Amino acid sequence: MKFTDADFVQGFMRMANDGWEQGWHERNGGNLSYRVKDEEVESVRENFEPKEWQPIGTSVPGLAREYFLVTGSGKFFRNVILKPEDSLCMIEIDEAGENYRIVWGLVNGGRPTSELPSHLMNHEVKKQVTDGKYRVIYHAHTTNIIALTFVLPLTAEAFTRELWEMATECPVVFPSGIGVVPWMVPGGREIAVETSKLMKEYDVAVWAHHGMFAAGEDFDLTFGLMHTVEKSAEILVKMRSMQPQKRQTITPEQFRALARDFNVSLPEKFLFEK
Ligand code: 13P
Ligand code: ZN
Repeated sequence: MKFTDADFVQGFMRMANDGWEQGWHERNGGNLSYRVKDEEVESVRENFEPKEWQPIGTSVPGLAREYFLVTGSGKFFRNVILKPEDSLCMIEIDEAGENYRIVWGLVNGGRPTSELPSHLMNHEVKKQVTDGKYRVIYHAHTTNIIALTFVLPLTAEAFTRELWEMATECPVVFPSGIGVVPWMVPGGREIAVETSKLMKEYDVAVWAHHGMFAAGEDFDLTFGLMHTVEKSAEILVKMRSMQPQKRQTITPEQFRALARDFNVSLPEKFLFEK
């Protein structure tokens, strides 16, 4: 099969373009990765042309011999549907989880996203804590969430509670809450370590003054999660632009009632009295 005809590649490209259309990917902003299923790897293996091994820059032994489809560093999301073979690559991880090699894509040269350490360390955590169910890690420069990182305290409690209050579906879509990484230099192991620690508990991590990481089972759920969090942030920005204080909101008791009816458990640490 032609590489770009495979369903997982089509799903990846559609999601990248959806993110572009939302305005979350100025220039080369943001990156996306997908942990490819064994049968999907086999379905496109005939297209592979392995390049030389390169260091990942961190260690992910839990991902040994796995394959990932990832966006290229410096590549623009708006070009993914037009020139996928220039914008994306499929990589293979070695048996130690220390090195990767490109097996498809980036035909005009280049390397996987500079956030590869964060993507792979998040994948490693999510693979473990979800028993292999989660396959997608998505980083986007979501405007309203970034704006809020200049205004809200940089804590999981503040971001989770404020965003839960802005739309009734939020606690159902992200019941475990949202983690926050303070400002750090992007693109390396250090920020990857901090983000992947949060991914043990949350599906969403905010990067202060930068953007967001979301994790999920498939493209629909991961895009939907990013979209829901960012929309809630947009409502909060609009609400605060009209007046600084809420006149009324959803109360802790009402969140508990919602949790009962929708069969989700909401950590009590987010249901504090204000
Ligand atoms: P890349 O182009 O290397 O993926 O970097 C974009 C980005 O958003 C860095 O945080
Ligand atoms: Zn970024």
